[in-house]
Amino acid sequence: MQIKGFNIKYIYNENSIDRSTALNGVSFTFNQGDFICIVGKTGSGKSTLVQTLNALLLPSEGYVNIDEFFITGNKKLKKELLKKKDKKQKKDNKNYSNLRKKVGLVFQFPEYQLFSNSVINDVMFGPLNFGFSKEEAKTMAIKALSDVGLNENYYEKSPFLLSGGEKRRVAIAGILASNPEVIVLDEPTAGLDNKGKVEIMKVLTTLNNLGKTLIVITHDMSVVQNYAKTVIVMSEGKIVHKTIPDKLFDEVDLEEYSLEVPLFIKFKKLLKNNGFEGNLEKISSYQDLIDEIIRIKGSKLNG
Ligand SMILES: Nc1ncnc2c1ncn2[C@@H]1O[C@H](COP(=O)(O)OP(=O)(O)OP(=O)(O)O)[C@@H](O)[C@H]1O
Ligand SMILES: [Mg+2]
Repeated sequence: MQIKGFNIKYIYNENSIDRSTALNGVSFTFNQGDFICIVGKTGSGKSTLVQTLNALLLPSEGYVNIDEFFITGNKKLKKELLKKKDKKQKKDNKNYSNLRKKVGLVFQFPEYQLFSNSVINDVMFGPLNFGFSKEEAKTMAIKALSDVGLNENYYEKSPFLLSGGEKRRVAIAGILASNPEVIVLDEPTAGLDNKGKVEIMKVLTTLNNLGKTLIVITHDMSVVQNYAKTVIVMSEGKIVHKTIPDKLFDEVDLEEYSLEVPLFIKFKKLLKNNGFEGNLEKISSYQDLIDEIIRIKGSKLNG
């Protein structure tokens, strides 16, 4: 399943003096199984963009196409796009509830997404809402909670009394329970310590390995470095780069977009600039780097 954006514009408060253009002509293609990180300065349009992907926000101009769904707030354009489509497709494009089964969104502040008195009820809400029976919903919730590493000890706890990382996991399980093909997460590691961050990212990597498409907004460049297959840089409502992480670190001036270069990358660059003769290109972990340093040093010693 592909996700395509065609020249999307999004304007908040279009008819008032507070009018603000958040997306200003964004086009993209995301492929099934991709792991995309979206980065960029605060206010560059990241959250706005991902909310168009499951039709929480409808583009003011342009559209998103996912399978049979065409997402746009431009009525004339929508009519045109659906003109030759069959009845079912027209119906599917009315309220987008079938779309939200396919594309699940975990918000920037997942605590806003939690509302039930117990973890299990919270996670069952999605499947129940999509018409599954109570029993089915419970089975789906248990599976989703287990996928994010939460066992039965958590089921009856209030989600509001959990730690930040646990809340995030419940919010992710709430989306996972409906078995979406695409999972979109807005800053899933914000505010977590390193252990919490690694745990969440491991869960996401496992989901990606199972074939799910992951779209993750982050300010953390080590997340990009360690987990993304594709990275998108946004600036002033536009996509200004779409590349692979290695190329981003090599070729793009990250400071221009207020993005931090990961320490590991800085260190590799320093080695190179200081005349290190090893092959640094394919090296992506400290262990590999140490091995390469030893290899070069060893060959010098031997030679
Ligand atoms: N509800 C809103 N009403 C009006 N303007 C908004 C609203 N939400 C966002 N904006 C504006 O739209 C632009 C893009 O905001 P958005 O939240 O998409 O940025 P972001 O890249 O997610 O930023 P951050 O990294 O801070 O989360 C900003 O200029 C912002 O002020
Ligand atoms: Mg945001």
